[in-house]
Amino acid sequence: MAQVARIAVTPGDGIGPEVVAQALRCLEALRAKHGLALEWTEFSWPSHTWHKAHGECWPPDAMTQLAAYDAILLGALGDPGPLDDPHRYLLTDSVSLAPLLQMRKGFDQWVCERPARLLPGARQYLKDDRARDVDMLVIRENSEGEYVSQGGRLRQGSPDEVATQMEVFTRYGTERIIRYAFEQARHRAIQRVQEARVRSFPHHSGNECESQVCLITKRNALRYWGDMYTQVFEAVSREYPDVATHHELVDAACMKFVQSPWAFDVVVASNLQGDILTDLAAVLCGGMGVAPSCNLNPDNPDMPSMFEPTHGSAPDIAGQGLADPTAMLFTSARMLEWLGRQDPQLALAGRELFEAVAADLAEHGGTRRRTREIGDAIHQRLTQ
Ligand code: IPM
Ligand code: MN
Repeated sequence: MAQVARIAVTPGDGIGPEVVAQALRCLEALRAKHGLALEWTEFSWPSHTWHKAHGECWPPDAMTQLAAYDAILLGALGDPGPLDDPHRYLLTDSVSLAPLLQMRKGFDQWVCERPARLLPGARQYLKDDRARDVDMLVIRENSEGEYVSQGGRLRQGSPDEVATQMEVFTRYGTERIIRYAFEQARHRAIQRVQEARVRSFPHHSGNECESQVCLITKRNALRYWGDMYTQVFEAVSREYPDVATHHELVDAACMKFVQSPWAFDVVVASNLQGDILTDLAAVLCGGMGVAPSCNLNPDNPDMPSMFEPTHGSAPDIAGQGLADPTAMLFTSARMLEWLGRQDPQLALAGRELFEAVAADLAEHGGTRRRTREIGDAIHQRLTQ
């Protein structure tokens, strides 16, 4: 039997615990059905509640505790409390979301993968029929760039105040994310051949390619990192003559994501630009309720990767049983697939979970259902 894969489950705040509960039911069903070598431990931190009790979002050795797991399944973080209560226990976003950024950084989860495929049943916000073919994978650089959190405020509060916020881009970080994007493009082309849905993209050589990587920058204004990204992209692309290449400035990319999103395949972007583009990409594919995400460390098996939906804690609907657990369930499927690198049984279970969630969406997408109802329906598909 394969070594047991261990998951740290951190439901977090807001709708996090509600959607995570549905994910755990489905994981339990798959575990029982296939005798999966999988176990998990639930943590009540990081969370708003933990902060209220302990004065911090998580215990001082949280990262050490988490490092012992193979993956982290996170619901959502951030809780502004009841807005009409002036005495509510209030944390700024920078406090309640800090653990998320600490995990990404501390475990060097340098890839953020956000697939954006309009699946049958998902709400189609774009009127154009071709929007049904939207199928892209946005790869967000997740370890540096605009998120290094370096800078400060000088003469705070005074009219002469100065705020600085540094952006840091290393060649090392640039090359690894761009190479990862090309590898994913190749992988997607192979998968599409197997599924008989080959796509075609023009290569600058005149040939047609079955996959494409589009680089996003703002190199017309932010030229230093933009130029470095461009050079590294060109150098790496020479190793992948089978993959077509493309570049878009981020503002134009926003426009084209709306105008012709079906033309994109793999998109690689900096931390902040990738963050912004993936909210847009999520809406192209049915909205935040169905958009999965993951933060991966592909090369250090001693550091857990973290799996969380793209959505946040949605405090406006928290506690009412209204949240859509679909994104969380797709994210859990991706986690199983990831853990399946060590244990093929888990990869198969991930596929099964994905298929069940997709089938549920295809059948019921568009009908208003409660969190529990969606969880029940998917759970039933897995156990029947
Ligand atoms: C995301 C979120 C986070 C980010 C926030 C909550 C810090 O928007 O995961 O996309 O900006 O990375
Ligand atoms: Mn975001």
